[in-house]
Amino acid sequence: MAILNDENLAKVDKLVPKYPEKRSATLPLLHLIQEEHGYISNEAVEWVAERLDLSPINVYEVVTFYPMFKQKPGGKYAVKVCRTLSCALGGAYKTCKAFEEALGCGLDQTSEDKLASLEFVECHANCGRAPVVMVDEQMFEGVDENGARKLVEKMREGTL
Ligand code: FES
Repeated sequence: MAILNDENLAKVDKLVPKYPEKRSATLPLLHLIQEEHGYISNEAVEWVAERLDLSPINVYEVVTFYPMFKQKPGGKYAVKVCRTLSCALGGAYKTCKAFEEALGCGLDQTSEDKLASLEFVECHANCGRAPVVMVDEQMFEGVDENGARKLVEKMREGTL
């Protein structure tokens, strides 16, 4: 199985020689894989290990250490609700509950229709506009329960 498309393979070929130690390219390679596939499979871990002359366990340790790396496929959209202080005080837990109800799945789960995965994350660095939600790379400010329901509607309509 091809782990990366040709464009990303070319990036890897340029990137790896830039590091004095091959192993230092572990994080950027994992980011490329997650960008392309949305998660890091066991095959991907083995591929990175082989490419960087490491043992798979060395790469697996990195994947499991950083919460931004996913180990299983998620939904079409990744919904990340900030739960840090300003957002928590601003109603992030209610917002999250509304997402759970609208998507029909719990936290750290993917909806049955594979529309979206839902998770709590720490600060999106936009604390004055709480509660803040990221859907993939888009940031939404002041997302209350109604806002959460509207975002899910837009995801379903494909208009987000
Ligand atoms: S506390 Fe939520 S964006 Fe900073």
